[in-house]
Amino acid sequence: MSWRIRIDGSDVEFVAQPGHSVLDAALAAGIELPYSCRKGVCGNCLGRVLDGPVTGGLGTGCEGARDGELLLCRTQALGDLLIAPRSWRRSEPDARVVLDAQVLSNRRAAEDVSVLQLRFAAGVRARFAAGQYLEVLLPDGRRRAFSMANAPHDNDGVLLHVRHVPGGEFTSRVVPALQRGDRLRVELAHGDFRLREDDDRPLLFVAGGTGFAPIKSILDDMLRRGVQRDITLYWGARNPGGLYAADAVARWQRRRPQLRFVPVISEPVDAAQWDGRRGLVHEALRQDLESAARFDVYACGAPAMVRAVRGVVLERGLPAERFFSDSFVSGADDAAA
Ligand code: FES
Repeated sequence: MSWRIRIDGSDVEFVAQPGHSVLDAALAAGIELPYSCRKGVCGNCLGRVLDGPVTGGLGTGCEGARDGELLLCRTQALGDLLIAPRSWRRSEPDARVVLDAQVLSNRRAAEDVSVLQLRFAAGVRARFAAGQYLEVLLPDGRRRAFSMANAPHDNDGVLLHVRHVPGGEFTSRVVPALQRGDRLRVELAHGDFRLREDDDRPLLFVAGGTGFAPIKSILDDMLRRGVQRDITLYWGARNPGGLYAADAVARWQRRRPQLRFVPVISEPVDAAQWDGRRGLVHEALRQDLESAARFDVYACGAPAMVRAVRGVVLERGLPAERFFSDSFVSGADDAAA
């Protein structure tokens, strides 16, 4: 038995099979709803079910829920539904593809971070928006998600920043051992963490660890296209080594001297190693930000960090609809990175 799901205020309707979430059914039908983790943690998929019976829909991502919203990645239909997601759009047909990729290089950028450069076959180009992610398809059917760190024009391959998750089979064992010429199968592009360009407000980016990757893609893309918006970037890491792409930031600052960069270190390290900001990145924001009302805010990192940043900027007057996030959530034995 399948159920019909209609989006309120439109003639868009799609079918949900038993056991599939509303989000998965929408994506399978070419309807993009906001999402990130698909595990009930990030809260990006919050939306309302206006009519019809459902099961599920709850999780830690419900913290920011309004008006009885549910997590559509955790909601299953038990009958025909009328829904009101926070936003939606039709995805382009054939926009998502599976590609074979070869490892071009594998560099240990920090104690627990590998930077993987993958290259597609000659003549193959990937289509993605700056900020989106791909999924590595593992031989046993599992998937691991990683944001593209390169800009979309640079599309004969992808650059991934992979954090080694303690105990994670793929990120801690497989990735560090990958060598030039090794092959991976990837599906892209996923996610809707991308720059909104319907205004020219100042931009506040907040990255935690390898949450820097999609922000790097967005900034590389913006600077290449000559997008003129004020940019502030906070990047939180446990130790100075965790700020593993200082060269990219220095490059941006050479081109945009007014770009404000605030690195923040959370672990105690001695003064000879670090003379910059200390503490958690959301605490630094709280200290610095009198008002967030003029910004569009983009945050990417672990769910707790993204939630904390959201709390600070909303408390400082940011309208909720101008907060955009991508949460990296642990899988069964690995984390998205
Ligand atoms: S909580 Fe649903 S996509 Fe993250």
